[in-house]
Amino acid sequence: MNYRHAFHAGNFADVVKHLALVSILAHLKKKPAPFAVIDTHAGRGLYDLAGEEAQRSGEAAAGIGRLLDISDGPETLRTYLDLVLALGRDRYPGSPLIAARLLRPQDRLVAIEKHPEDAAALQSALAPYGRARVVQTDGYMHLPSLLPPPERRGLILIDPPYEASDELSQAANAVAEAYRRFATGIFMIWFPIKSASAANAFCGEVRLSGPRKLLRVDLAVDGDPDKLNAAGLLIGNPPYGFADDMKDVFTPLAPPLGRERDARLRVEWLAGKE
Ligand SMILES: C[S@@+](CC[C@H](N)C(=O)[O-])C[C@H]1O[C@@H](n2cnc3c(N)ncnc32)[C@H](O)[C@@H]1O
Repeated sequence: MNYRHAFHAGNFADVVKHLALVSILAHLKKKPAPFAVIDTHAGRGLYDLAGEEAQRSGEAAAGIGRLLDISDGPETLRTYLDLVLALGRDRYPGSPLIAARLLRPQDRLVAIEKHPEDAAALQSALAPYGRARVVQTDGYMHLPSLLPPPERRGLILIDPPYEASDELSQAANAVAEAYRRFATGIFMIWFPIKSASAANAFCGEVRLSGPRKLLRVDLAVDGDPDKLNAAGLLIGNPPYGFADDMKDVFTPLAPPLGRERDARLRVEWLAGKE
Protein backbone atom coordinates (compact mmCIF):
# COMPACT_ATOMS: atom_id res chain seq x y z
CA MET A 1 0.00 0.00 0.00
CA ASN A 2 2.25 2.77 -1.29
CA TYR A 3 -0.49 5.00 -2.70
CA ARG A 4 -0.80 8.34 -0.89
CA HIS A 5 -3.78 10.44 -1.91
CA ALA A 6 -2.09 13.56 -0.48
CA PHE A 7 -0.22 13.88 -3.81
CA HIS A 8 -3.46 13.92 -5.80
CA ALA A 9 -6.05 15.55 -3.52
CA GLY A 10 -7.83 18.40 -5.29
CA ASN A 11 -6.65 17.41 -8.78
CA PHE A 12 -8.96 17.50 -11.83
CA ALA A 13 -10.19 13.98 -11.18
CA ASP A 14 -10.95 14.68 -7.51
CA VAL A 15 -12.88 17.82 -8.48
CA VAL A 16 -15.24 15.95 -10.81
CA LYS A 17 -15.65 13.00 -8.42
CA HIS A 18 -16.48 15.33 -5.55
CA LEU A 19 -18.92 17.39 -7.64
CA ALA A 20 -20.68 14.15 -8.53
CA LEU A 21 -20.79 13.27 -4.82
CA VAL A 22 -22.32 16.66 -3.94
CA SER A 23 -24.92 16.26 -6.72
CA ILE A 24 -25.95 12.77 -5.56
CA LEU A 25 -26.20 13.82 -1.90
CA ALA A 26 -28.39 16.80 -2.85
CA HIS A 27 -30.70 14.39 -4.65
CA LEU A 28 -30.87 11.97 -1.69
CA LYS A 29 -31.71 14.89 0.61
CA LYS A 30 -34.82 15.76 -1.41
CA LYS A 31 -36.72 13.12 0.58
CA PRO A 32 -36.81 13.22 4.41
CA ALA A 33 -36.18 9.45 4.69
CA PRO A 34 -32.68 8.69 6.03
CA PHE A 35 -29.91 7.36 3.81
CA ALA A 36 -26.46 5.81 4.25
CA VAL A 37 -23.20 6.69 2.51
CA ILE A 38 -20.55 3.96 2.42
CA ASP A 39 -17.11 5.11 1.28
CA THR A 40 -15.00 1.96 0.80
CA HIS A 41 -11.65 3.71 0.16
CA ALA A 42 -12.04 6.88 2.16
CA GLY A 43 -8.53 8.35 2.48
CA ARG A 44 -7.57 10.90 5.16
CA GLY A 45 -10.61 13.17 4.82
CA LEU A 46 -8.61 16.39 4.96
CA TYR A 47 -5.53 17.35 2.93
CA ASP A 48 -2.97 20.09 3.43
CA LEU A 49 -2.44 21.77 0.06
CA ALA A 50 0.51 23.73 1.44
CA GLY A 51 2.13 20.45 2.50
CA GLU A 52 5.05 18.77 0.80
CA GLU A 53 3.08 16.19 -1.20
CA ALA A 54 0.65 18.65 -2.79
CA GLN A 55 3.40 21.18 -3.47
CA ARG A 56 5.63 18.55 -5.02
CA SER A 57 2.97 17.18 -7.39
CA GLY A 58 1.37 20.54 -8.25
CA GLU A 59 -1.87 18.63 -8.97
CA ALA A 60 -4.14 20.62 -6.65
CA ALA A 61 -2.78 23.89 -8.05
CA ALA A 62 -3.81 22.72 -11.55
CA GLY A 63 -7.19 21.49 -10.26
CA ILE A 64 -9.11 23.06 -7.39
CA GLY A 65 -6.53 25.88 -7.25
CA ARG A 66 -7.85 27.23 -10.56
CA LEU A 67 -11.49 27.17 -9.47
CA LEU A 68 -11.59 28.91 -6.12
CA ASP A 69 -12.34 32.36 -7.57
CA ILE A 70 -15.34 31.28 -9.66
CA SER A 71 -18.08 33.38 -8.13
CA ASP A 72 -21.25 31.95 -9.65
CA GLY A 73 -22.50 28.78 -11.33
CA PRO A 74 -25.02 26.01 -10.76
CA GLU A 75 -26.04 25.07 -7.22
CA THR A 76 -23.92 21.89 -7.11
CA LEU A 77 -20.81 23.90 -7.97
CA ARG A 78 -21.64 26.58 -5.39
CA THR A 79 -22.23 23.99 -2.65
CA TYR A 80 -18.90 22.33 -3.47
CA LEU A 81 -16.84 25.53 -3.68
CA ASP A 82 -18.42 26.97 -0.51
CA LEU A 83 -17.59 23.76 1.33
CA VAL A 84 -13.97 23.83 0.11
CA LEU A 85 -13.53 27.55 0.85
CA ALA A 86 -14.96 27.12 4.35
CA LEU A 87 -11.75 25.19 5.15
CA GLY A 88 -9.49 27.93 3.78
CA ARG A 89 -7.51 27.93 0.54
CA ASP A 90 -4.78 25.62 1.81
CA ARG A 91 -6.94 22.70 2.84
CA TYR A 92 -8.99 20.34 0.74
CA PRO A 93 -11.75 17.97 1.88
CA GLY A 94 -11.77 14.36 0.76
CA SER A 95 -14.94 12.43 -0.02
CA PRO A 96 -15.75 11.37 3.58
CA LEU A 97 -15.44 14.91 4.91
CA ILE A 98 -17.59 16.28 2.06
CA ALA A 99 -20.23 13.65 2.83
CA ALA A 100 -20.05 14.22 6.60
CA ARG A 101 -20.53 17.97 6.17
CA LEU A 102 -23.57 17.48 3.93
CA LEU A 103 -25.38 14.78 5.93
CA ARG A 104 -28.53 15.57 7.90
CA PRO A 105 -29.03 14.32 11.47
CA GLN A 106 -30.98 11.28 10.20
CA ASP A 107 -28.28 10.20 7.69
CA ARG A 108 -25.15 8.12 8.26
CA LEU A 109 -21.64 7.68 6.86
CA VAL A 110 -19.41 4.62 7.10
CA ALA A 111 -15.90 5.53 5.95
CA ILE A 112 -13.51 2.60 5.42
CA GLU A 113 -9.76 3.13 5.13
CA LYS A 114 -7.15 0.37 5.26
CA HIS A 115 -3.96 2.38 5.82
CA PRO A 116 -3.52 2.78 9.60
CA GLU A 117 -2.02 6.27 9.43
CA ASP A 118 -4.67 7.55 7.02
CA ALA A 119 -7.42 5.91 9.07
CA ALA A 120 -6.16 7.72 12.19
CA ALA A 121 -6.09 11.04 10.32
CA LEU A 122 -9.60 10.33 9.05
CA GLN A 123 -10.78 9.55 12.55
CA SER A 124 -9.73 13.02 13.71
CA ALA A 125 -11.11 14.76 10.59
CA LEU A 126 -14.50 13.15 11.21
CA ALA A 127 -14.50 13.44 15.02
CA PRO A 128 -16.90 16.43 15.03
CA TYR A 129 -19.47 14.53 12.96
CA GLY A 130 -21.55 12.22 15.12
CA ARG A 131 -23.20 10.51 12.14
CA ALA A 132 -19.84 9.42 10.69
CA ARG A 133 -18.05 6.18 11.61
CA VAL A 134 -14.52 5.21 10.55
CA VAL A 135 -13.60 1.56 10.08
CA GLN A 136 -9.95 0.68 9.59
CA THR A 137 -10.06 -2.39 7.37
CA ASP A 138 -10.18 -3.63 3.78
CA GLY A 139 -13.01 -1.87 1.96
CA TYR A 140 -13.61 -4.69 -0.53
CA MET A 141 -13.87 -7.30 2.23
CA HIS A 142 -16.01 -5.20 4.56
CA LEU A 143 -18.53 -3.81 2.05
CA PRO A 144 -20.77 -6.91 1.69
CA SER A 145 -21.39 -7.01 5.45
CA LEU A 146 -22.87 -3.48 5.27
CA LEU A 147 -25.37 -4.27 2.52
CA PRO A 148 -28.19 -3.70 2.22
CA PRO A 149 -28.15 -0.77 4.63
CA PRO A 150 -31.17 -0.75 6.97
CA GLU A 151 -32.19 2.61 5.48
CA ARG A 152 -32.57 0.93 2.06
CA ARG A 153 -31.43 4.19 0.46
CA GLY A 154 -27.94 5.36 -0.12
CA LEU A 155 -24.71 5.75 -2.00
CA ILE A 156 -21.78 3.36 -2.21
CA LEU A 157 -18.58 5.13 -3.27
CA ILE A 158 -15.75 2.88 -4.45
CA ASP A 159 -12.57 4.87 -5.07
CA PRO A 160 -9.57 2.52 -4.96
CA PRO A 161 -5.94 3.43 -5.66
CA TYR A 162 -5.62 0.82 -8.47
CA GLU A 163 -2.13 -0.07 -7.29
CA ALA A 164 -2.40 -3.79 -7.92
CA SER A 165 -2.40 -4.97 -11.54
CA ASP A 166 -5.72 -6.80 -11.04
CA GLU A 167 -7.45 -4.01 -9.16
CA LEU A 168 -9.83 -3.06 -12.00
CA SER A 169 -11.18 -6.63 -11.86
CA GLN A 170 -11.29 -6.57 -8.09
CA ALA A 171 -13.28 -3.33 -8.17
CA ALA A 172 -15.69 -4.69 -10.81
CA ASN A 173 -16.24 -7.83 -8.70
CA ALA A 174 -16.92 -5.67 -5.64
CA VAL A 175 -19.60 -3.78 -7.56
CA ALA A 176 -21.19 -7.01 -8.77
CA GLU A 177 -21.35 -8.42 -5.25
CA ALA A 178 -22.70 -5.13 -3.90
CA TYR A 179 -25.47 -5.06 -6.56
CA ARG A 180 -26.54 -8.53 -5.61
CA ARG A 181 -27.13 -7.31 -2.06
CA PHE A 182 -28.45 -3.80 -2.72
CA ALA A 183 -29.83 -3.56 -6.25
CA THR A 184 -31.59 -0.24 -5.68
CA GLY A 185 -28.57 1.60 -4.26
CA ILE A 186 -26.67 4.33 -6.05
CA PHE A 187 -23.13 3.22 -6.84
CA MET A 188 -20.27 5.45 -7.88
CA ILE A 189 -16.95 3.97 -8.86
CA TRP A 190 -13.91 5.95 -9.95
CA PHE A 191 -11.38 4.59 -12.46
CA PRO A 192 -8.24 5.92 -14.12
CA ILE A 193 -8.05 6.02 -17.92
CA LYS A 194 -4.49 5.12 -18.81
CA SER A 195 -5.50 2.89 -21.69
CA ALA A 196 -8.85 3.31 -23.48
CA SER A 197 -9.20 -0.43 -24.02
CA ALA A 198 -8.58 -1.31 -20.35
CA ALA A 199 -11.09 1.36 -19.27
CA ASN A 200 -13.69 0.10 -21.78
CA ALA A 201 -13.21 -3.49 -20.65
CA PHE A 202 -13.68 -2.43 -17.02
CA CYS A 203 -16.89 -0.54 -17.89
CA GLY A 204 -18.14 -3.58 -19.79
CA GLU A 205 -17.49 -5.80 -16.78
CA VAL A 206 -19.40 -3.45 -14.47
CA ARG A 207 -22.27 -3.25 -16.97
CA LEU A 208 -22.54 -7.04 -16.94
CA SER A 209 -22.96 -6.98 -13.16
CA GLY A 210 -26.49 -5.89 -13.91
CA PRO A 211 -27.38 -2.32 -13.01
CA ARG A 212 -30.57 -1.27 -14.77
CA LYS A 213 -29.09 2.17 -15.30
CA LEU A 214 -25.40 2.86 -15.69
CA LEU A 215 -23.86 6.19 -16.63
CA ARG A 216 -20.24 6.75 -17.63
CA VAL A 217 -18.69 10.18 -17.08
CA ASP A 218 -15.18 10.70 -18.52
CA LEU A 219 -12.97 13.70 -17.98
CA ALA A 220 -9.86 14.43 -20.02
CA VAL A 221 -7.27 17.17 -19.76
CA ASP A 222 -4.18 17.80 -21.88
CA GLY A 223 -1.03 17.64 -19.91
CA ASP A 224 2.14 15.95 -18.90
CA PRO A 225 2.21 12.58 -20.75
CA ASP A 226 3.84 11.00 -17.69
CA LYS A 227 0.85 11.83 -15.51
CA LEU A 228 -2.77 10.74 -15.42
CA ASN A 229 -4.70 12.92 -17.88
CA ALA A 230 -8.06 11.18 -17.98
CA ALA A 231 -10.34 9.51 -15.48
CA GLY A 232 -13.86 8.24 -15.35
CA LEU A 233 -16.77 7.62 -13.06
CA LEU A 234 -19.36 4.90 -13.42
CA ILE A 235 -22.61 5.70 -11.70
CA GLY A 236 -25.11 2.90 -11.21
CA ASN A 237 -28.73 3.93 -10.66
CA PRO A 238 -27.87 7.63 -10.98
CA PRO A 239 -30.48 10.05 -9.65
CA TYR A 240 -32.88 11.65 -12.09
CA GLY A 241 -31.26 14.79 -13.55
CA PHE A 242 -27.70 13.78 -12.53
CA ALA A 243 -26.33 13.60 -16.10
CA ASP A 244 -27.58 17.10 -16.91
CA ASP A 245 -26.32 18.42 -13.59
CA MET A 246 -22.81 17.15 -14.37
CA LYS A 247 -22.87 18.80 -17.80
CA ASP A 248 -24.10 22.13 -16.37
CA VAL A 249 -21.60 22.10 -13.55
CA PHE A 250 -18.75 21.35 -15.91
CA THR A 251 -19.41 24.21 -18.35
CA PRO A 252 -17.65 26.92 -16.27
CA LEU A 253 -14.88 24.48 -15.31
CA ALA A 254 -13.78 23.40 -18.80
CA PRO A 255 -11.54 26.44 -19.52
CA PRO A 256 -9.80 26.66 -16.11
CA LEU A 257 -9.23 22.89 -15.88
CA GLY A 258 -7.90 22.82 -19.43
CA ARG A 259 -4.38 23.59 -20.53
CA GLU A 260 -3.73 24.14 -24.21
CA ARG A 261 -7.42 23.57 -24.81
CA ASP A 262 -10.51 23.19 -22.61
CA ALA A 263 -10.93 20.11 -20.46
CA ARG A 264 -13.48 17.67 -21.92
CA LEU A 265 -16.35 15.89 -20.18
CA ARG A 266 -18.15 13.02 -21.88
CA VAL A 267 -21.37 11.65 -20.45
CA GLU A 268 -22.69 8.36 -21.86
CA TRP A 269 -25.42 5.92 -20.83
CA LEU A 270 -24.05 2.36 -20.83
CA ALA A 271 -27.33 0.84 -19.63
CA GLY A 272 -30.84 2.31 -19.51
CA LYS A 273 -31.38 6.05 -19.66
CA GLU A 274 -33.61 8.67 -18.09
C1 LIG B 1 -8.01 7.37 -4.11
S1 LIG B 1 -7.77 7.33 -2.39
C2 LIG B 1 -9.33 7.75 -1.72
C3 LIG B 1 -9.74 9.18 -1.88
C4 LIG B 1 -11.05 9.54 -1.28
N1 LIG B 1 -12.11 8.61 -1.68
C5 LIG B 1 -11.45 10.94 -1.66
O1 LIG B 1 -12.15 11.12 -2.68
O2 LIG B 1 -11.10 11.85 -0.94
C6 LIG B 1 -7.71 5.61 -2.04
C7 LIG B 1 -7.53 5.26 -0.57
O3 LIG B 1 -7.77 3.86 -0.41
C8 LIG B 1 -6.90 3.36 0.61
N2 LIG B 1 -6.86 1.91 0.41
C9 LIG B 1 -6.03 1.17 -0.36
N3 LIG B 1 -6.43 -0.12 -0.38
C10 LIG B 1 -7.53 -0.19 0.40
C11 LIG B 1 -8.43 -1.25 0.74
N4 LIG B 1 -8.26 -2.50 0.27
N5 LIG B 1 -9.48 -0.97 1.54
C12 LIG B 1 -9.68 0.30 2.01
N6 LIG B 1 -8.86 1.32 1.73
C13 LIG B 1 -7.82 1.09 0.91
C14 LIG B 1 -5.62 4.11 0.39
O4 LIG B 1 -4.84 4.13 1.58
C15 LIG B 1 -6.14 5.51 -0.01
O5 LIG B 1 -6.25 6.33 1.12
